[in-house]
Amino acid sequence: MKPITAPDLRRMKERGEPIVAVTAYDYSTAVALDQAGVDLLLVGDSLAQVVLGHPTTLPVTMEEMLHHVRAVSRGARRALVVADLPFLSYNTPAEAVANGGRFLKEAGAAAVKLEGGNPAQLQATRALVEQGIPVVAHLGFTPQSVHAFGGYRLQGKSPERALEIREQALELEKAGASALVLELVPPELAAAIRTELAIPTIGIGAGPDCDGQVQVFHDLVGLYTDHVPKHAARYARVHETIGEAVGRYADDVRAGRFLRVPSTAT
Ligand code: KIV
Repeated sequence: MKPITAPDLRRMKERGEPIVAVTAYDYSTAVALDQAGVDLLLVGDSLAQVVLGHPTTLPVTMEEMLHHVRAVSRGARRALVVADLPFLSYNTPAEAVANGGRFLKEAGAAAVKLEGGNPAQLQATRALVEQGIPVVAHLGFTPQSVHAFGGYRLQGKSPERALEIREQALELEKAGASALVLELVPPELAAAIRTELAIPTIGIGAGPDCDGQVQVFHDLVGLYTDHVPKHAARYARVHETIGEAVGRYADDVRAGRFLRVPSTAT
């Protein structure tokens, strides 16, 4: 089975093949998602919230990200592993290359993601691409700027902001990005950007007219219940399943049944 590469993402768009992307943070989940046919495993900095219990993505460190990227890379056979550069880890092109390079060199990722399209972020993208580090860009609601945005808000509602996002998308493509995540933007804006770009758009809360979709794994399977974004698609209720299964185990232990009636464990 041939692993998916960053250049394959563009070929998938050209062939009209939707890109299936899910976040992953550990080995077992990576194996399950890879075997389920997911094309792109994003080790998102959402790790800070759904795995480490922080209120935002801001506190996660490079060392923490590296630890989880290594685990996901060990589990991925076919899927492209993309590692998120954490907040303030790509302020200059040199920092972007040093940190992005660590994800490829020390942790087995095949691409990195960074948020935003301002001049510094465009320079960081160019520098990474020049060093052979594929970049997935991210525009719209970029969670590392949650405080600047004043909360989890749809971006690109005003014509001025919509134009800014469209222009930044084109600049990021010119800078060499392999794909663009569009988060929390109006569906019409996502549809327009999709037709303007040769690289694929991967939406989250951006409507159906994207070249792919990405979801946070814990939202998809109902494992993180502190905050469920409106755009989260729930395909399972694993939080409840765990409660029910572990509750039965606890009942068996407390009633002295555990290991006496093994069939109750299934
Ligand atoms: O960190 C993350 O999970 C992300 C996705 C929401 C795209 O950036």
